[in-house]
Amino acid sequence: MQLSQRVLKLAESETLAMSRRANELKEKGVDVINMSLGEPDFKTPDFIKRAAKEAIDKDFSYYTPVPGYKDLQTAICKKFKRDNGLDYQPNQIVTSTGAKQSIINVIMAIVNPGDEVILPAPYWVSYSEMVSLFEGKVVEASTGIETDFKITPALLEKYLNPKTKAFLFSSPCNPTGTTYTESELRALGEVFKKFPNVVIISDEIYEHINFQGKTFSLAAIPELYDRTVTVNGLSKGFAMTGWRLGYIGAPKAIADACVKIQGQFTSGACSITQRAAIAAMEMDPSEIAPMREAFRKRRDLIVSLFKEIPNVEINHPEGAFYLFPKVSWYFGKTDGKTVVKDAKDLCMWLLDEAKVALTPGGSFGAPDYFRLSYATSEDKITDACKRIKTALAKLH
Ligand SMILES: Cc1ncc(COP(=O)(O)O)c(C=O)c1O
Repeated sequence: MQLSQRVLKLAESETLAMSRRANELKEKGVDVINMSLGEPDFKTPDFIKRAAKEAIDKDFSYYTPVPGYKDLQTAICKKFKRDNGLDYQPNQIVTSTGAKQSIINVIMAIVNPGDEVILPAPYWVSYSEMVSLFEGKVVEASTGIETDFKITPALLEKYLNPKTKAFLFSSPCNPTGTTYTESELRALGEVFKKFPNVVIISDEIYEHINFQGKTFSLAAIPELYDRTVTVNGLSKGFAMTGWRLGYIGAPKAIADACVKIQGQFTSGACSITQRAAIAAMEMDPSEIAPMREAFRKRRDLIVSLFKEIPNVEINHPEGAFYLFPKVSWYFGKTDGKTVVKDAKDLCMWLLDEAKVALTPGGSFGAPDYFRLSYATSEDKITDACKRIKTALAKLH
């Protein structure tokens, strides 16, 4: 079978690949702790489930409008106003089958071949593949653990140029947990003001898992509003990964383009999920506090346990549910049988040796690191860190 060049160039999602390997071992009866997948282990809140059950009983079983039900668009506008101080009209809201689809819609809508898209690295795995799929040029603005993986205004300015079409980032960030403060974002905003043609795609899907407080939206800066796309979704904050709903608030032209694209690809998102999403949008955000607190406790736990592991460096993640340790000290080391060359080797070796599934940093644009998701119980976190520490001690 001769597949397209486009798909041959596309990398498989590294997180899904590691998770699949971990599941294969689990099926064989191996006691694997899977820390590779970005998925809250909480249950979807009951009132959201009730709204979905009601939607089934009320026969919400037909094709939905491509951008979403009007009352969902309105509920999202109210959420944007309440939580982010953003004024959107319903016709600026497009809902999709996950934030993943929201982002690829936007990329398809704005990127021409050769257009540069700046991704502060480390970035979420799919960003670079999505940009490449539509022949955009990925410009990695590499950051390191020394700056808490934050892009500075000076670095941003270095990468912006007339060929820059867009800047795409997440805060809180997957994979680093890095969370920009309002003043840091305002400082980046000052640089963007000098480049009025650049579209900013602000992925705020971890908005509710922010240990610093409120997540600031770049679209709240008036001079940037007309060219900023704010992305969000239900997966992380509401523990609804399988329900598949993401959404954007966008300049009308981009929203219209996304509707046109989505109308040809998938049509509107699932009717039942959309009815449930209205309940989620109308919820008082304080309801999420217990989940966030649980993640904060786990963050504190994993940070303290990792500090005890020799030769790894960590930042202090302020959001999401990931730790992204620098582990390059172990590259080139051996247990006497295997030489661990890079992060991929190290993750494979740790899967065999410690029975812990992790994700190598290369696919996040940061080959010196690996990612752990701490969206799992405190017992499992403790056990996993112990296993990793014991295993790493064998490498020299
Ligand atoms: C930064 C980031 N953006 C978007 C997504 C996609 O979310 P969804 O499940 O809504 O497609 C993820 C999921 O891992 C993510 O980490």
